[in-house]
Amino acid sequence: MKKIAVLTSGGDAPGMNACIRAVVRTAIFKELEIYGISYGYEGMINGRIKRMHSYSVSNIIQRGGTILKSARSEEFRTKEGRKKAYEQLKAFGIEGLIVIGGDGSFTGAKIFFEEYGIPTVGCPGTIDNDIYGTDYTIGFDTAVNTALEAIDKIRDTAAAHDRIFFVEVMGRDSGYIALECGIGGGAEFVMIPETSTDLRQVTKSLKNLRKSKSSSIIVVAEGDEEGGADEIMEKVKAKINDPDKEFKVTTLGHIQRGGNPTARDRVLASRCGMAAVEGLISGEQNCMAGIVNGEVVYTSFDDCINKTKHLKDDHLKLIEILSI
Ligand code: F6P
Repeated sequence: MKKIAVLTSGGDAPGMNACIRAVVRTAIFKELEIYGISYGYEGMINGRIKRMHSYSVSNIIQRGGTILKSARSEEFRTKEGRKKAYEQLKAFGIEGLIVIGGDGSFTGAKIFFEEYGIPTVGCPGTIDNDIYGTDYTIGFDTAVNTALEAIDKIRDTAAAHDRIFFVEVMGRDSGYIALECGIGGGAEFVMIPETSTDLRQVTKSLKNLRKSKSSSIIVVAEGDEEGGADEIMEKVKAKINDPDKEFKVTTLGHIQRGGNPTARDRVLASRCGMAAVEGLISGEQNCMAGIVNGEVVYTSFDDCINKTKHLKDDHLKLIEILSI
């Protein structure tokens, strides 16, 4: 293998740049030619492929976003789109691929590998932390800390006015961000897609809590089955039915996707990037390089996509016990 390429795909995550840097510099260290593909699979189809050098990744380890840009490609979902992408890789003589992204990106990588056999290794890049085969995903720690900083600030104003705040965090299908910033931010409740939310119980507990606490923070993952924070706040407000109590909503949104990556994300991204290149060289393919219990582990794309990384029961218990 002499020429490999790297791309970022799907929702961006802080630390993707640190991962690109590690991929590029490890490839150069191993005397491979390394190419960057801009705009993910869409860029692969359109031949947006450029040679990268050590200096191409200078001064990016601390930056959020991705210098390779990211995209969600509809065309890559089609056979014709993937054929065009393969022809572009062939024209550049690329023999191996590194995909930094989440489960949607790995699904694309797996289908592409099955059709064209180009060895591919993934790096887990998503703030959602919902990928099997790695304890943490690149960007999760930064997103949690961003949300936590906001919750700390909301707590100040909530306490000053005796208000009940519903804070919506990202996580269309996953409650990891909500759970960790809920624990770290001392939330009274956390509502997540993985567990069923009992609004009657929440209302009852909120009424009880008001005997000892004048304000409350409730963290809602955007994908909770009862709705987003706005919808849930309206339902709870109607059930509590107390004109003296004030309810507020803050939706944190995409600020959780940006910003300088934390030290933990930079280290994780660097380790996964290096492991992906080393794996590719030693014959790993159709799999992701993740970190499990502190060690590099290669997990098949099939398992990454189809197996579920379960939330820890004691995390859920912590919220319940520590909020009394
Ligand atoms: O990166 C994952 C994620 O942050 C989800 O939690 C969220 O629902 C989604 O991306 C939103 O992404 P976009 O606005 O880019 O479609």
